[in-house]
Amino acid sequence: MSILSATNLETFYGPVPALRGVSIAVDPGEMVCVLGANGAGKTTLLNSIAGVVEPRFGTVTFDDRPLTGLGPDAVAAQGLVLCPEGRQMFPFMSVRENLELGAYRRQARASRTRNLDRVLHYFPRLAERIDKPAGMLSGGEQQMVAIGRAVMAEPRMLLLDEPSLGLSPRFVEIIYSVLAEINRDSGLAILVVEQNASVALEATTKGYVLELGRIVMADTCEVLTQSDVIRESFLGHGAVAPDAKRFRKKKVWR
Ligand SMILES: Nc1ncnc2c1ncn2[C@@H]1O[C@H](COP(=O)(O)OP(=O)(O)O)[C@@H](O)[C@H]1O
Ligand SMILES: [Mg+2]
Repeated sequence: MSILSATNLETFYGPVPALRGVSIAVDPGEMVCVLGANGAGKTTLLNSIAGVVEPRFGTVTFDDRPLTGLGPDAVAAQGLVLCPEGRQMFPFMSVRENLELGAYRRQARASRTRNLDRVLHYFPRLAERIDKPAGMLSGGEQQMVAIGRAVMAEPRMLLLDEPSLGLSPRFVEIIYSVLAEINRDSGLAILVVEQNASVALEATTKGYVLELGRIVMADTCEVLTQSDVIRESFLGHGAVAPDAKRFRKKKVWR
């Protein structure tokens, strides 16, 4: 039984379709990726699931409950928390204040201190910068804050929009190793959309490929890493195939 299922989503911007009958499913405890080039519809898919935009057709079900018609706050209140593209910090507020904004749900407010400890355990760099304005942090550190803020909400599932975007390879490693660790430690289901296919295929177990608003492939990451389509569209000719279990095996220093 899936924790999240989206069925036949069709989302339009005016007359222009951005999702054309997209269906995906994530099982409890699973970490799943949706790969797609720029403009494929990845953000539209997450926004359609999270209630930021309303699909014209199709349904989203989270934990057996339909989310249809709910706005982003109501969806987050169900425990389905979106970590948006571009991080969206409040740059003049401190790291601590930005993190605490994540704990607005009633359930999360009571356990704010424990969740903050958890975030700082996963991202020790943030402990050193906790009283700095978020705008003074590097892009990679801001991505840590964005993920930390989502963890502060005590999600039952996380939606992540291109967490690797614009980051150096070093930070991409850290971010994905922490996501894999959170998934492993707490069994939190994660759906991540990415252009960076190699890292996403290494960190997740199942993937979908989105092309011009349609799902054109769906399989385990082990199978996807061997696929010619993935190699040609995402990895480049002659690229080393991603190691589909890499983030499950090693621990990255951070
Ligand atoms: N607010 C918007 N208004 C009109 N068109 C949009 C809007 N947002 C996205 N689009 C279009 O929808 C398509 C999918 O965009 P998006 O979901 O942002 O893709 P991705 O996140 O994969 O880059 C693109 O063709 C994009 O130009
Ligand atoms: Mg996007």
